[in-house]
Amino acid sequence: MNKTIKSKENLKGSFSVPGDKSISDRAVMFGSIANGTTTVHGFLTGEDCLSTISCFKKLGIDIKVDGTDVTVQGKGLHGLSAPKKILDVGNSGTTMRLISGLLCGQNFNCTITGDASIQKRPMGRVNIPLSEMGAKINGRNEDGKLLAPISITGSSLKSINYTLPVASAQVKSAIILASLYAEGTTVIIEPEATRNHTEIMLNYLGANIEHNGTEIICHPVKELYGKEIFVPGDISSAAYFMVAGAICENSQITIENVGINPTRTGIITVLENMGADITLLNKKVVCGEETADICVKTSRLKGTVIEGDIIPKLIDEIPVIAVAAAMADDTTIIKDAQELKVKESNRIKTVVCELKKMGVDIEETDDGMIINGGKGISGAVCESYDDHRIAMSIAIAALVANGETTITDTQCIDISFPNFFKFIERM
Ligand code: S3P
Repeated sequence: MNKTIKSKENLKGSFSVPGDKSISDRAVMFGSIANGTTTVHGFLTGEDCLSTISCFKKLGIDIKVDGTDVTVQGKGLHGLSAPKKILDVGNSGTTMRLISGLLCGQNFNCTITGDASIQKRPMGRVNIPLSEMGAKINGRNEDGKLLAPISITGSSLKSINYTLPVASAQVKSAIILASLYAEGTTVIIEPEATRNHTEIMLNYLGANIEHNGTEIICHPVKELYGKEIFVPGDISSAAYFMVAGAICENSQITIENVGINPTRTGIITVLENMGADITLLNKKVVCGEETADICVKTSRLKGTVIEGDIIPKLIDEIPVIAVAAAMADDTTIIKDAQELKVKESNRIKTVVCELKKMGVDIEETDDGMIINGGKGISGAVCESYDDHRIAMSIAIAALVANGETTITDTQCIDISFPNFFKFIERM
């Protein structure tokens, strides 16, 4: 589906964005291995999370979806059953990596696959620590890299002490889930803090995971217990409107009830450093996760340097941050972001290529990009590369472009943000 977008000013309104994708995925997975019912409110019904539901149904879990309420009849840590079919994670890297960790310690075997993008994304990063724990994972081998489809032979696991070579919440979470089935205490050391929704939600359901500096210590537990989970709005979805509110003339937007877990708020820090007028109101803590209403007003932005340990805190927002940088005075440099190359698309290449088509002075580097901002954005015909975050970032650039922008293959937006264009129209 192609979408044509014209520039807009005077964006106004208060609204909430759909539920957090990382938290929605985890609610289904962890609810399935908890004892009793988990009721999830504000669930994201995007395609990635629906793929997670489909996988756990195949693993014998009864899951009912009613709007954004989801009821999971958990069967306890040892209640999953052997799937009769291949588990298909669709486009969801989170589902792929996390269920690999969860399934390698079961007493059955399974095969997991996903779409064309998933079949290119590295699985060695989870296989290495999980194999050290005793997991048996085989898969396609291309140039020495382990890729999906993968097959897992359920095995008994032992605990490990593991230093993550890359800052990845997906890898960390896969190890934490495997540790629930391993004898002894597993310790994971992170090079930089990554999103900690797994630790927060598992502890909320009865796990015993401690944080000590850069160490995550996973003590064994006998059971998890089903509970009610309220999912906040996804800051990664709110990010598009935060940037739109800052760069479109005469705008003022409030995005209500957004998750502001400090491991995810790099976008707020960076936009504030760039001079954006952002206010957080109505702060709360719900099910262990911090939330707030985020108010953004049109602001004159200036370039900045984004590097180091803030990168994992804004990894999914870099495409839309590049759009803000294109509208900012001076130069923005993004470094240490080589992880972008192994996302749904190679986001260093795809962001640079599409923003170049829109007349932005932007250059690819080995670990990020350099954007010489303040020179305006022009309408163009752009591709999504079937990457939801690229499609939505181009849509935000289109709001401030001279002339019309057409984006091809926008259906991928349903992966994380169903009805995205209706939100834009409503503003
Ligand atoms: C996610 C972690 C991040 C992020 C992804 C969701 C998660 O990936 O890019 O969209 O839910 O754990 P990495 O941890 O591999 O960087």
